[in-house]
Amino acid sequence: CGIVAYIGPRQAYPILIKGLHRLEYRGYDSAGVAVLNSDLKLYKCKGKVAALEEAVKDKDLSGNIGIAHTRWATHGEPNDVNAHPHFSYSRNLAIIHNGIIENYAPLKNELINRGFRFESETDTEVLIHLIEDIEINEKVSLAEAVQIALNQVVGAYAIVIIDKNDPDTLIAARKGSPLVVGIGENEFFVASDATPIVEYTREVVYLNDEEIAILHRNKEIKIKTITNIEKTPYIQTLEINLSALEKEGFDHFMLKEIYEQPRSIRDSMRGRLKAREGIVLLGGIIDYQQKLVNAKRIIIIACGTSWHAGLVGEYLFEELARIPVEVEYASEFRYRNPVIYEDDVVIAISQSGETADTLAAIELAKSKGATIIGVCNVVGSSIARATHAGSYTHAGPEIGVASTKAFTAQVTLLTLMALMLADSKGTISKSRFNQLLHELDDIPGKVEETLKVNDKIIEIATVFKDVRNALYLGRGYNFPVAMEGALKLKEISYIHAEGYPAAEMKHGPIALIDEEMPVVVVATNKGTYEKVVSNIQEVKARKGKIIAIVTEGDETVKALADHIIEVPETEEMLVPLIATIPLQLLSYHIAVMRGCNVDQPRNLAKSVTVE
Ligand code: G6P
Repeated sequence: CGIVAYIGPRQAYPILIKGLHRLEYRGYDSAGVAVLNSDLKLYKCKGKVAALEEAVKDKDLSGNIGIAHTRWATHGEPNDVNAHPHFSYSRNLAIIHNGIIENYAPLKNELINRGFRFESETDTEVLIHLIEDIEINEKVSLAEAVQIALNQVVGAYAIVIIDKNDPDTLIAARKGSPLVVGIGENEFFVASDATPIVEYTREVVYLNDEEIAILHRNKEIKIKTITNIEKTPYIQTLEINLSALEKEGFDHFMLKEIYEQPRSIRDSMRGRLKAREGIVLLGGIIDYQQKLVNAKRIIIIACGTSWHAGLVGEYLFEELARIPVEVEYASEFRYRNPVIYEDDVVIAISQSGETADTLAAIELAKSKGATIIGVCNVVGSSIARATHAGSYTHAGPEIGVASTKAFTAQVTLLTLMALMLADSKGTISKSRFNQLLHELDDIPGKVEETLKVNDKIIEIATVFKDVRNALYLGRGYNFPVAMEGALKLKEISYIHAEGYPAAEMKHGPIALIDEEMPVVVVATNKGTYEKVVSNIQEVKARKGKIIAIVTEGDETVKALADHIIEVPETEEMLVPLIATIPLQLLSYHIAVMRGCNVDQPRNLAKSVTVE
């Protein structure tokens, strides 16, 4: 879900609605807004932000303080009533909330017993009734009531509250769900991430867990914890570029982000890879480098696309640094009583830095004494802060819900890490190390080259856009690439797709193959190439349609495949950075041709802050 709030001299509504559009990638099944002058006006409805805009276009929305929300349903189906903001009982307070109040049922029962009635099924409405009840009964200020209420609450929240009787104050608080306060001239902005704020101010404060921010008109920001300890705000300067938040002529954010990859990969290596000098330096983890060198084992935890990057990481770390690696779904790891040693190093990978399961898995590993290294894209995110050390991917804001440039940036970073470790451990010769550094340095150029396959891919997409199933195969480093390709297709085109290790196909998926079934094979020319060629023959023998990703100049696969996509040659271990690109484009074009909403696919959210 996404939160945005404003207090200051300007009209709030235009800022709020623009902010919601920027946040819409986080969730989009309902939206709402509340603004305040002498009146508290609240509008909300099912559907996207555009539906809200349409619904309020003739309404009075004047006021220079307000809150707004875009929701991705957890409790309660997406409908007008369950959308945020929610009113308090007296309708004097309005709240927006991300997260889950886990103990909402007993709190609700208690309030019902005391005569309260609820309009919605949401946990949020319980929270605002509770706050108002405390404010009235204990005769405390709203800020104090919020503080008392949050001490009774179990769960996660990012909240912002406005009060009809006090149009000069915004109150915000967080635990487990991100919240950023932007500080302008005599004005404050609050949002789930910096994207709605950056065009107004670059000065921000990231709230920590269990902190409450009290934002008075024309006063300084005040922060206290829910245990009433005053905090000095730590003001940071944002480095996001505004153009990163616009489509810049592309039809969709996803396409723009695919095309950004030469730059985002370069940015992820900037200052870290010095190919000519033969150096890889990761400043963010330097203090923990020795821990990594001595690690008996690396455990990679992640979800979704980040988990696929982790699989590539497994191959890299084992091959280059000779350290055993386990790659775990964070959601499984955290609930299965895993064996964790103090000399384990856990690498947590997350684009958003907010994924609830990944965060919980980190806390678990930390409590067992392991060292945690983060690979996050969002600066200042919860995961980045929960880890002992880490390296940001510097891919820039990723708005398309299906992850593209964040994936290649994660793989780039894991490659740098594995190379750095191999060098410090002496598991690689100097000449091979230098050769790989040069090759990695050339990758952005090769990705640029690879993007030229776009027209070819449009042709292929036209042929396959109406299929119902697809199989993606690869071996070695290309196995995670196949999985990621299949995930992209499912996510945005709703075609059922499976990614499989090519040889494993014989043990099941081969039964699915007939003349209708497209089989995308990543068959670049290194490693197990010959074996993959045999797998292609197995598919052909069953009349499957082969779409093959091959190295430029390949003749063998060309003779067998129905469609080929050529990519530049590189080292086997760097192929994922290149071979992923055509698969991203293929899913993109198929989804567009099917009329799907590419940037905001149904049921998915960009950052999953609930478990
Ligand atoms: C969601 C997103 C995916 C993402 C996954 C993990 O499912 O839709 O694109 O890969 O979460 O997110 P993270 O931010 O932790 O990488």
